[in-house]
Amino acid sequence: MSGVPPLSFYDEIGGHDAFVRLVDAFYRGVADDEVLRPMYPEEDLGPAKERLTLFLEQYWGGPTTYSDERGHPRLRMRHAPFHVNPDARDRWLAHMRTAVDELGLSPLHEATLWDYLQRAAHAMVNTFEPSGIGPAAGGRDAATGPGTASAGTPRSHLPVTAEPPRGGDLR
Ligand code: HEM
Repeated sequence: MSGVPPLSFYDEIGGHDAFVRLVDAFYRGVADDEVLRPMYPEEDLGPAKERLTLFLEQYWGGPTTYSDERGHPRLRMRHAPFHVNPDARDRWLAHMRTAVDELGLSPLHEATLWDYLQRAAHAMVNTFEPSGIGPAAGGRDAATGPGTASAGTPRSHLPVTAEPPRGGDLR
């Protein structure tokens, strides 16, 4: 078997179709969420769906289209304009949990994906204030506000900075 590259996690769980199904199911939950939905700046959730799909595909060893189009992920910085408190995180994770369940993965794949999503979601929290107070509560347009300061937080211990499965740097 020498010379045959190991399958990536992306391939193992079903490639593009699996990630599209995951993110579609997740955004069905977001669309009905009274806290999360107003955070998304665009009327149409389609472009946000596309960005999350491309990011997750890249992270798990699929095509690198995300960075080709968007550059370095820098997810904590990109979330700085949004009010990501523990309530928002828990809602995000609840919709993701439903979406992961719908994929019907093997226990090992399910645990691997879920572990990552939980750690990443905890790392994205940028305020402990209730809604409306805290970093750039006005959303993305307020990206130059105080919220961007969190982009400078040391991140070496955060899950989104961890080496992705095939070794790229996706902070
Ligand atoms: C913890 C709760 C979270 C909340 C409330 C949240 C909310 C948001 C919002 C409002 C956006 C802007 C939508 C857009 O226009 O793309 C966004 C973008 C994004 N989020 Fe999250 N997010 C959370 C966690 C995460 C996690 C854990 C990941 C990765 C595993 C993630 C990945 C992304 C990506 C890739 C984008 C698009 C970034 C870009 O290229 O502009 N988010 N998120």
